[in-house]
Amino acid sequence: MAPRWAGRCDACGAWNSIVEEPEEAAPPRAIGTAAGGRRIAPVGLDEIGPDAPRRTTGIAELDRVLGGGLVAGSAVLVGGDPGIGKSTLLLQAVCALGQEAPCLYISGEEAVEQIRMRAARLGLSGSAVELAAAADVRDILATLDRADAPAVVVIDSIQTMFVDTLDSAPGTVAQVRASAGELVRLAKRRGLALLLVGHVTKDGMIAGPRVLEHMVDVVLYFEGDRGHHFRILRAVKNRYGATDEIGVFEMTGQGLRQVPNPSELFLANRSAGGRGEDVAGSVVFAGLEGTRPVLVEVQALVGATAPGSPRRAVVGWDANRLAMVLAVLVARGGIAVGGSDIFLNVAGGLKVSEPAADLAAAAAIVSSKLGVPVAHDAVVFGEIGLSGEVRPVPQTELRLKEAAKLGFARAIAPRRKRDGAAGLNPALQISDIASVEDLLSLLESSDVRPRASHRPGRNTAALP
Ligand code: TYD
Ligand code: MG
Repeated sequence: MAPRWAGRCDACGAWNSIVEEPEEAAPPRAIGTAAGGRRIAPVGLDEIGPDAPRRTTGIAELDRVLGGGLVAGSAVLVGGDPGIGKSTLLLQAVCALGQEAPCLYISGEEAVEQIRMRAARLGLSGSAVELAAAADVRDILATLDRADAPAVVVIDSIQTMFVDTLDSAPGTVAQVRASAGELVRLAKRRGLALLLVGHVTKDGMIAGPRVLEHMVDVVLYFEGDRGHHFRILRAVKNRYGATDEIGVFEMTGQGLRQVPNPSELFLANRSAGGRGEDVAGSVVFAGLEGTRPVLVEVQALVGATAPGSPRRAVVGWDANRLAMVLAVLVARGGIAVGGSDIFLNVAGGLKVSEPAADLAAAAAIVSSKLGVPVAHDAVVFGEIGLSGEVRPVPQTELRLKEAAKLGFARAIAPRRKRDGAAGLNPALQISDIASVEDLLSLLESSDVRPRASHRPGRNTAALP
């Protein structure tokens, strides 16, 4: 609550993120008495019927993120930057679903003819889905609040919808909240699966999907950058499933194509278009996204040490995590990178959030700094602690299996307390690492260098 006009939020420092909410005319009174209330009838845990039926969308990558399909009477928010492919994804989903259940796609942004043309371009003509262009929530309620309502309804986008009881323009926080509230209640009442599209707005999160997250059952974000063709669908909230699953798609001329094996996509440029030789500063990280192993290339470039404060830029990883790894490398490994410009990039545009990427980032940085390539056929993973120790990470076996499947021959992985490397995937040669010092000696030895002799890096002279 601010007593006067404020341009900057005191809590988070963001500019122009404060929105006025007019106060209620009368101050709220305490209810005080039980008179007028209705008795609630609790039910026992086992008296409730079986789980709500799920409807698979026919797009496996979407179903996985939803936790197995759409639940009747639920509201799903699909957020993402404008132009990322939200409309395309949902149109493809309802066109596939339309074969089995009545579906309605309501657009407040495009005319019906435009949507039809898009569907034709996606090769989806002939689907039983129904289309409508509407933005007035009262009209939508009048159409859908009946027993024969369609099973699945898409609202594209919530920022274009409005309720006529509010004076504010569509897209404002008040309108977005009120419209979504009406639509979510409708979905619960009629047992339909509601999919809301929400654009992430440029200037902070004003009236973006964030203000709706608590009102819906499932929140999915569609991410990716414009420079790359692939898109990642990520669950950030799911009342019906896990939130760490991702779905991977590729945007093509014929719409979104599912990518059942993301590692192949992320590493595609490395083997095919890549240089085919080992390059200092490039390491393959064996990561995990939800239940699925994903291999990605982590690249580091360590520049010269220059006076003044060094530049640090990270794409696809956490800048704080990088700062920590650098501090550990300097303090525990004696690697003089403190004053150097450092750039770290997760190739392909994936955003990695696992601590297991620490060791891969450290290996890429040390490799670039020393000019010593890490072998082409090695994967790296492990978490680094402040004292320089390298800790085991979950699902070692799954990561190794994926690496072996894609033709990798060795792994640089945390030392395991009990059985060491024994019992691990026999297809890979494992270099187990207990500390940052181990990593340094491994990189300096010939062990993980390429087997064939390679062109020496520019900084080979820096080798001890
Ligand atoms: P769209 O689904 O309209 O994005 P959103 O609803 O999230 O704003 O996708 C728009 C972009 O996708 C547009 O820049 C063009 C591209 N696109 C393709 O590359 N191929 C296609 O088949 C389609 C339909 C769109
Ligand atoms: Mg759209």
